[in-house]
Amino acid sequence: MSAAAGTRFQVAPGGRLAGELTVPGDKSISHRALMLGGIATGDTRISGFLAGEDCLATARALEALGVSIERPQDTELVVHGVGGQGLSAPRADLDLGNAGTAMRLFTGLLAPQRFDTTLVGDASLMRRPMQRVVAPLAMMGARIHTHDGRPPVEIRGTPHLRAIHYSLPVASAQVKSALLLAGLNAAGRTRITEPAPSRDHTERMLGAFGAQVLHEGRSISLDGGQTLCGTHVEVPADFSSAAFFLVAGCLAAEGGLVLKNVGVNPTRTGLLELLKRMGADIRLHPRTATGAPHAEPVADIEVHKSALRGITVPEALVPLAIDEFPVFFIAAACASGETLVRGALELRVKESDRLAAMATGLANLGVEHQLLPDGLWLRGAESFSGGTVDSRGDHRIAMAFAVAALRARAAIGILDIANVATSFPGFVTSARSVGLAVEAL
Ligand code: S3P
Repeated sequence: MSAAAGTRFQVAPGGRLAGELTVPGDKSISHRALMLGGIATGDTRISGFLAGEDCLATARALEALGVSIERPQDTELVVHGVGGQGLSAPRADLDLGNAGTAMRLFTGLLAPQRFDTTLVGDASLMRRPMQRVVAPLAMMGARIHTHDGRPPVEIRGTPHLRAIHYSLPVASAQVKSALLLAGLNAAGRTRITEPAPSRDHTERMLGAFGAQVLHEGRSISLDGGQTLCGTHVEVPADFSSAAFFLVAGCLAAEGGLVLKNVGVNPTRTGLLELLKRMGADIRLHPRTATGAPHAEPVADIEVHKSALRGITVPEALVPLAIDEFPVFFIAAACASGETLVRGALELRVKESDRLAAMATGLANLGVEHQLLPDGLWLRGAESFSGGTVDSRGDHRIAMAFAVAALRARAAIGILDIANVATSFPGFVTSARSVGLAVEAL
């Protein structure tokens, strides 16, 4: 049964993990490959595409904008690019489901078009902040209306945007990417300065499509009017999906567990550093040569059961592990001693308020913790109770608590799990194949 088929997970306590697993393709890279493929000249082949609800919403939106997409296999796509000026007006609002990345990147892509577009999404997405992309785009001359900074995002197409120099107030790859996409169709050189590094998939992929992207310290620049050329994008397995099994392996893989073909872009792998600081036995076996500037580095990752120790998370690592905190908190709940995360306010505006969702779930399992305005403190334990937790419709909260069952004394029930299919179709089958006793009911 696929995760999407059920409404709750039931996870038996304890167990051991072993074997090899290839998790689905990277969500961030799949969204970008579709969008850049759509506005490139010529065809783009995407291999290893994430056939999850979020990326399928992006594909449907591009089709509504006049891009034709073939899907000879579930994870193999051919995007017939229409060129930088070739998108056409959609007949209806674009529904992006749960996909925040799609909404923010499309806002940048569609602001400089010759037609108007309205972007909508599910209840979670309709609550998420969009002002962070709208404000700098307005400085470029874009005309975008939101409802108190939240969707629907109503874009009045404005073909003559002006390049700006913009310092991001928070490290956000979505905002950076939206501005780069708008900058492709703006007059002059767009320059974006980040307060701290965030994932750089857009910059790498623009290079792979033949665009010139300049890097200088924490600044990225791009000249408007560049043409993208279709290419072949090989999407690695998603580090953020592998993350659940990296933590699960630390808790219960006595003989080792191998995650195959995982994207290990250093702007994504903060969790590896955090787990290593906690004492995890994790070994990387690189599959790609280092040094190719546009290529995404890929490795097999081997993880062994380890005695974890609590840590204080350096704030500089927070953006590099931003999507991994739900499962990181589970690792911390199973570690000896205390763990402290601060400077993670961004976790409150993800698919759910992840600090609150994790604190409530940990409370239900009897884990000693304190919710802080911008983080969480907790004390780990050898084991904790079972119980029921509400994922609040957040895919990563649901999967994190499934991993927690490895150290629970009784079963864990997890509510509202349908959105696991946004990022990890087949989670239940994958998890069961390596020994995690999860069922979707
Ligand atoms: C993403 C960027 C991050 C991340 C999200 C995916 C992307 O969001 O949390 O899951 O693909 O650019 P922010 O840009 O809000 O940090």
